[in-house]
This record gives sequence, structure tokens and C-alpha cells, in this order.
Amino acid sequence: MFQAQTLPSSASKRDLYASLAQQLAALLEGEPDAIANAANMSALIYQLLPDLNWSGFYFMRGPELVLGPFQGKVACVRIAVGRGVCGTAVERRASVVVPDVDAFPGHIACDGASRSELVVPLIKNGQVFGVLDLDSPHPNRFDEEDREGCERLVRIYLEASAL
Ligand code: SME
Repeated sequence: MFQAQTLPSSASKRDLYASLAQQLAALLEGEPDAIANAANMSALIYQLLPDLNWSGFYFMRGPELVLGPFQGKVACVRIAVGRGVCGTAVERRASVVVPDVDAFPGHIACDGASRSELVVPLIKNGQVFGVLDLDSPHPNRFDEEDREGCERLVRIYLEASAL
């Protein structure tokens, strides 16, 4: 059975994301189910990335995003493309880092404790399948290293999963 390896809190982000990438690849190896993989990936991220209060997925269902597997408090179910941080990442087809959610016009507050957010779109063969969404109760929690690290994790997810 897979057992997540926690890194010491002194570990650099570089080491943290290298370890997460390696563990995620092992966790998803040989499993093509996109929902099962999203469930395990959201749990692994929630367990190993410090200072998160929400980690999860939204998937494109017709013209809008619909809530998928996640860890954290209950969340809004449907988000239109172009709305909130998640819908903005889909519209731009690019990751969005929000240092202060109160300063992001149209931010959708699910957990009132969230202060900063990182959303990475799931793009495979040119098609947007959804987003990975991470929330933190700390302002300015996510930087470029987090964006690059999470984009790497999303690539591992997309390679493993049949979408
Ligand atoms: N804050 C997101 C909505 C999803 S929750 O954070 C889980 C947004 O603005 O799109």
C-alpha cells in the first residue's frame, strides 16, 4: 500500500515539489481512472503541502466547471467559464496565482478562511478538461515556484489519466 512520505518543514520548495512529483507518479502509476486519480492527488497534496485549507478539482461539464474530488470544507458546485479564479484560469488557458483573494474581482468565496489561491488548468491535447484549485488561509501563500511545481504535478496527472 502506498504511504505518503512527509518532508521536514525545513525542506525547500524545490525539494518538496521534487518529492511530491515522485510520490504522485508512484501513486497514479497504472491507474487511468481520472476521478480516482483526482481524489488521491487532492489528498496527497492536502497532506504534504503546508498551509492549505482546500485542495481539489473542478471538471468541465458542458459549458461550466462542476466540483470534483477535493479535501477541505464543502464548496460551490458550479462555476461558469470566466467567473471566479477557476473560471478565469479556464478562460485564459493558463495558471492563475492570486496573492490576495479580496483583491481579485469576482473571486468566489467557498471557505471564508481562504486568503490566497492557485489554480492550474488541466489541458490535454489542446482541450481544457478542468482545473486543480488550491486555497490557503495565508495571504501570498503561492509563488512562481508553487505554480511551476503544481503545473508539473498536473502534467503527471494528465499523463496517467484517461480523460
Ligand atoms: N475560489 C474559487 C472557487 C472555488 S473554491 O475556492 C473551492 C474561485 O474563485 O473560482
